[in-house]
Amino acid sequence: MDMSEQGPVKDMTAQTRTEMAPAPARATPTLPDTQTVTEVEHYTDRLFRFRCTRPASLRFRSGEFVMIGLMGEPDPVTGKQKPLLRAYSIASPSWDDELEFYSIKVPDGALTSRLQHIVPGDEIILRPKPVGTLVHDALLPGKRIWFFATGTGIAPFASLLRDPQTYADYDEIILTHTCREVGELAYGAKLIEDIKADDLLAELIGEGFADKLRYYPTTTREQSPKMGRITDLMRSGEVFADLCVAPLCPESDRAMVCGNLAFNLEIKEMLEGYGLSEGANSQPAEYVVEKAFLD
Ligand code: A2P
Repeated sequence: MDMSEQGPVKDMTAQTRTEMAPAPARATPTLPDTQTVTEVEHYTDRLFRFRCTRPASLRFRSGEFVMIGLMGEPDPVTGKQKPLLRAYSIASPSWDDELEFYSIKVPDGALTSRLQHIVPGDEIILRPKPVGTLVHDALLPGKRIWFFATGTGIAPFASLLRDPQTYADYDEIILTHTCREVGELAYGAKLIEDIKADDLLAELIGEGFADKLRYYPTTTREQSPKMGRITDLMRSGEVFADLCVAPLCPESDRAMVCGNLAFNLEIKEMLEGYGLSEGANSQPAEYVVEKAFLD
């Protein structure tokens, strides 16, 4: 097409301009898996959460993750764009009309350096194929469940903590969350506050359900009421003394772990030391582990 024949361009919409631009800066192809961002909240310069529309066909188990992302930059030679996707735990409960995600912002991270700038109305890609090991089906019945999280690893537990099954299956639910700074605990603190005040959950699960829930936040690089890595606090026995519970044992305790790689490996070894063994969807046991999104 000869652009010189198009006349003045000042009244053209952004979309029309994009459609008429020559290759390789072609319009982004419409993808089958796009969802619309409905809400974005930033907590610190490293953390934010966002909500988006939920595909009508998407069914998932609390604790599972899906692949989400954006279109990548055009290839400098071919101009082709490929989806840039990463695994994200779904933080919202399965009964929610929308989906929620909790994300880190990595300044030079391929996806999050761009994803952190989304605003309501933007489109993201979401592959509606949920998977993951942090699911109730991967654990044998028990009395008490521990959710051990660092940083954005709290996301799958935000879903599980709003799942009626969690309260039906266990007498006690303990969420531990270790972050560097106090501001990074805000998402979890608000989550617990909201759960405890949620009338709908009380109706679904039964009055007094929130009494089963214990929250144990700690920080490592900024002063807060409880300082230290959860692993160290377990080794010293401090966490058990604080919560007035016995150390974990395979007869009564179950655990789900989600955090950075070093944390996952360290706590896995500790859980094995308490006599718990790792479960999977195909073979339920006493604990399960998943890596939090890092890029
Ligand atoms: P620390 O500040 O001592 O490294 P990150 O933001 O790097 O993912 O870390 C989140 C939290 O996880 C931080 O408080 C960090 O503590 C803690 N952490 C990192 N590695 C381990 C580990 N091996 N065991 C326990 N906690 C860890």
